[in-house]
Amino acid sequence: MNLKKPINQLIEEHQTETKTGLRRSLGPVNLITLGIGAIVGAGIFSLTGIVASENAGPAVILSFVLAAVACGFCALSYAEFASMIPVAGSAYTYTYATLGEFMAWIIGWDLVLEYALASATVAVSWSSYAVKFLAQFGADLPPELITSPFDPVQLSDGTVFTSGIINLPAVVIVSLLSLFLVKGTKESASLNNFLVILKVCVIILFIALGWSFINRDNYTPFIPENTGEFGHFGWSGIVRGAAVVFFGFIGFDAVSTTAQEAKNPQKDMPIGIIGCLLVATILYVSFSYVMTGLVPYTEFLGDASPAATAFAVTGYHFLNSALVIAILAGYTSVILVMLMGQSRVFYSMSKDGLLPAFFSDVHPRYKTPWKSNLFFLVFVSALAGFVPISDLGHMVSIGTLFAFSLVSLGVIILRYKQPEIHRSFKVPGVPFVPIIGIGICVFLMAGLPLESWERLFVWMGIGIAFYFLYGKKHSKLGQQNSNNQPK
Ligand code: ALA
Repeated sequence: MNLKKPINQLIEEHQTETKTGLRRSLGPVNLITLGIGAIVGAGIFSLTGIVASENAGPAVILSFVLAAVACGFCALSYAEFASMIPVAGSAYTYTYATLGEFMAWIIGWDLVLEYALASATVAVSWSSYAVKFLAQFGADLPPELITSPFDPVQLSDGTVFTSGIINLPAVVIVSLLSLFLVKGTKESASLNNFLVILKVCVIILFIALGWSFINRDNYTPFIPENTGEFGHFGWSGIVRGAAVVFFGFIGFDAVSTTAQEAKNPQKDMPIGIIGCLLVATILYVSFSYVMTGLVPYTEFLGDASPAATAFAVTGYHFLNSALVIAILAGYTSVILVMLMGQSRVFYSMSKDGLLPAFFSDVHPRYKTPWKSNLFFLVFVSALAGFVPISDLGHMVSIGTLFAFSLVSLGVIILRYKQPEIHRSFKVPGVPFVPIIGIGICVFLMAGLPLESWERLFVWMGIGIAFYFLYGKKHSKLGQQNSNNQPK
């Protein structure tokens, strides 16, 4: 039987639980900054250059707009759900109420690809920038300790190094941030606020200082002619570019995982989700406009630090150090919020009995799901420290797009099945807006490489086995239902 969790039960559970469970400490500003914390990272600092040089030229600006519109459609659906079911767990919880327990399990398991894998991927990028930053001060770490096994790395003298032991800086950052999350949601939100202010100030500084150095000739041709290959410039390049920069928008949904820690979730969740997406879009579009206006897009080809190349023409050399600081701050906040989101999803799954109880143990003093945080400290550190994850970025995108599609589908289902439930925020134009959201997600998923699909199926296969061996037997809703059956 496909068990669905009634919305009223979800709301009641969360009302009784707030007395003993997670602490409500987040207001609308904290929610927006949490979202910006999770969103603004690798997307703006490295993908802008890659997409401009390989796919879209100066029209990378349009790729960002297209990806933002796609995310906007899905963000509206998240906002409706979060205002209706203000419970931790995000897409997992929404799916439990609409498509039933099995699909909810699938999505909860799938979100590991988004949150845990994104934190590991970004931790590895963080590590490479931290190593460069330390090297400026003469602190060179041994190559064995900054490289995961099996990961070939080109050293500065051109030789390829293949005998790495561990990516230690990546492990250190994941461990420190996980411990911070154990200490408290409010403390973590304050750290995030600081990091967000830092990275946003540097981005605004770049835009403001770079603006007067823009050479308009660099915008011609704005859409370079297609080379004959799909995705290589022309309009198809803009679309392919949008699929790539989509990674840069991942994270706005992390806001909804903290619904149970929001002071006034019905009102503030939609503000947090849509607000952070708007701010990120404005930053991305302006930043890519300035970057591609400073130097011809062809100069970004194969460049590991395209933003530094662009801003070198301004002559403000201090911007290079500011850039590294902004990147480190940006990546740190992405890892922090993703780790937070992950622990909240497993918290909800464990509360429902689908995962062992220790994932929902709340620390008596700190009021955080501390055992879940410690579990992901080990899991994500192991991924970041030992697995060559450079090619797993696509897995993050495919997992996220899958979750976005199901949330949009859920909005349509619930509007027809339970129109009477109070929604403080409503997606306009249902069913068309969510259908467009689903269409764009499926379109972007279709453009991802075959290996990503294969890995998605393997991961899901493991998840389905776990559900039938453990989750289904321990499901609280399942047990409730069998107790209520006439004997
Ligand atoms: N959106 C996040 C980033 O760009 C994952 O790093």
